[in-house]
Amino acid sequence: MTDSRRSTSPDDELAPGHRRELVSFTRRGGRLKERQQRVWDEIGDRFVLEVPRAGASTSVDPDARLDVPATFGRTAPLVVEIGSGHGDTVCAAAAACPDVDFLAFEVWVPGIAQTLLTIRREGLTNVRLAEVNAPEALATWLPEHSLTELHTWFPDPWHKTRHHKRRLVTVDFTHLVARALEPSGVWRLATDWADYADQMEQVIVESPVLEGGRCERYEHRPVTRFETKGLAKGRTIHDLRAVPVS
Ligand SMILES: C[S@@+](CC[C@H](N)C(=O)[O-])C[C@H]1O[C@@H](n2cnc3c(N)ncnc32)[C@H](O)[C@@H]1O
Repeated sequence: MTDSRRSTSPDDELAPGHRRELVSFTRRGGRLKERQQRVWDEIGDRFVLEVPRAGASTSVDPDARLDVPATFGRTAPLVVEIGSGHGDTVCAAAAACPDVDFLAFEVWVPGIAQTLLTIRREGLTNVRLAEVNAPEALATWLPEHSLTELHTWFPDPWHKTRHHKRRLVTVDFTHLVARALEPSGVWRLATDWADYADQMEQVIVESPVLEGGRCERYEHRPVTRFETKGLAKGRTIHDLRAVPVS
């Protein structure tokens, strides 16, 4: 059961005693609009997974394991999207690929609620959502080598040099990706920040567990709000892919 009366604006991520490690997000504030709260009350139990916590509200108990077939009620290829935002891409991909299951990791609660609205409107049955810090979920909660694909579309750019340490895509992170992907799995990324694209490329080159580089745009990715913003500011979109080293 998810708690539909949950607070929507905690910022416990940096509170002493909760998290010591740096995370790739800060405040997750924003109250739910009335229709977002209503959809959460109506279908949240079915689509938003209950995550055993280890303290902070987006943490994952390292002893917890996700039962994927029980979660989706079937056995099918599984794709995870990290930082699904409003859910535009995960819902479009799920509608285009009904034989694939999609799980979205997001820490921004109004974004999860917005995704629920699309799930209901489109009648999707193959999407689930989890309010989690993605690295923790990849590290222990997901079964090893369970993903056919992992998607990371427009991760927060943390464009100031002093904030680069908050970026999600690092060589350390590639070990979590390799743990989660099937041997034939694919990690797909996109960003509108040229220097983050360079960093992603460099990370893939330096990673001992992945190989890959720049590539064509993923066919099921619609133009998201963040992509639209980037394009409006004259930025170029960079797509990358990586696979486990065989
Ligand atoms: C720049 S937005 C992009 C959203 C969406 N992918 C798009 O293209 O519109 C990045 C999203 O990643 C989420 N995020 C950042 N760090 C995260 C983490 N460690 N775990 C899960 N979600 C995260 C943020 O809350 C935000 O919604």
